[in-house]
Amino acid sequence: MEQLLQQIESYKKEISAFEASTADAVENFRIKWLGTKGLVKTIMGEMKNVPNERKKEFGQILNEFKLFVETKFQSLAENNSGLQTKDSELIDWSLPGDPIALGTRHPLSIVRNQIVSIFKRLGFAVAEGPEIEDDWHNFGAMNLPEDHPARDMQDTFYINQDPAWLLRTHTSSVQARVMEKQKPPIRVICPGRVYRNETISARAHCFFHQVEGLYIDENVSFADLKQTLYFFVQEMFGKDTKVRFRPSYFPFTEPSAEMDISCLICGGDGCNVCKHTGWVEILGSGMVHPKVLENFGIDSNKYTGFAFGMGVERICQLKYRVNDLRLYSQNDVRFLKQFTGAL
Ligand code: PHE
Repeated sequence: MEQLLQQIESYKKEISAFEASTADAVENFRIKWLGTKGLVKTIMGEMKNVPNERKKEFGQILNEFKLFVETKFQSLAENNSGLQTKDSELIDWSLPGDPIALGTRHPLSIVRNQIVSIFKRLGFAVAEGPEIEDDWHNFGAMNLPEDHPARDMQDTFYINQDPAWLLRTHTSSVQARVMEKQKPPIRVICPGRVYRNETISARAHCFFHQVEGLYIDENVSFADLKQTLYFFVQEMFGKDTKVRFRPSYFPFTEPSAEMDISCLICGGDGCNVCKHTGWVEILGSGMVHPKVLENFGIDSNKYTGFAFGMGVERICQLKYRVNDLRLYSQNDVRFLKQFTGAL
């Protein structure tokens, strides 16, 4: 028995003197002493040779020894954690890290933000609404009669027929939701994604993005509409950009007009983008139809308003000369990284 006590004492000396400067050395220590075939196990096995009357005394000594080894192992592990892996492979934690490549904002987000910030400066607030809509907010409230071709299954993605649930085809649905809740004066812009059942090509997609605007107050006139949109164009495309209005038709506005700007690509001389006319269409607009106002209990004798809607992809095409709509949703980094540094 005295031999066993001596053995433990000499192990303790060996362990106390042991130092480790690598993670490998710590691991070797663990295997030697605490592993399944380690010396702590072996020496614990000696208990069976201890006479019964001394078992209690030796049990304590062996447990203390085990604790001693474990404590030593823990302090070795803590001192060496992460500092070194292999003897040869020292890590210098003061070296600068690998740079993280910054992402870029999507061109459509950049342009949408620009559009929004121009209208914000004119006092427009941003309104948002759901992409899944009911028939009333997308069509009915907007004075689209039951048999209007825009309700045709070809243009609209229906989720459910009766009652009709659909993917909104324009963000006019958000304007409807604003008029439902708010009393005039109303001055909002509605940016968002819209869906139309179109065959995907360079010029058409089944989803795109709009910013629509609505301004309702007393004495709002067509002159206000023209001036507001003219201001927008000058801010967006530069002071030299010319605009023209062409009469048009929308069920929710009367009178209605589409607005063209002088072609930025050729400066009005004629090119592929403007189809040699010198002009490109950028938005639809008009005075809010009295029926739309009445749908929301807004007195059309007291209040008038104007509304407009533009496609963000089109504005982006003109600003950045993107000639294929599909590029916006293909996630090709060669395309996307060209917008690094843009706001
Ligand atoms: N809602 C129309 C569209 O999606 C755009 C528009 C909005 C036209 C407001 C006139 C007034 O095409």
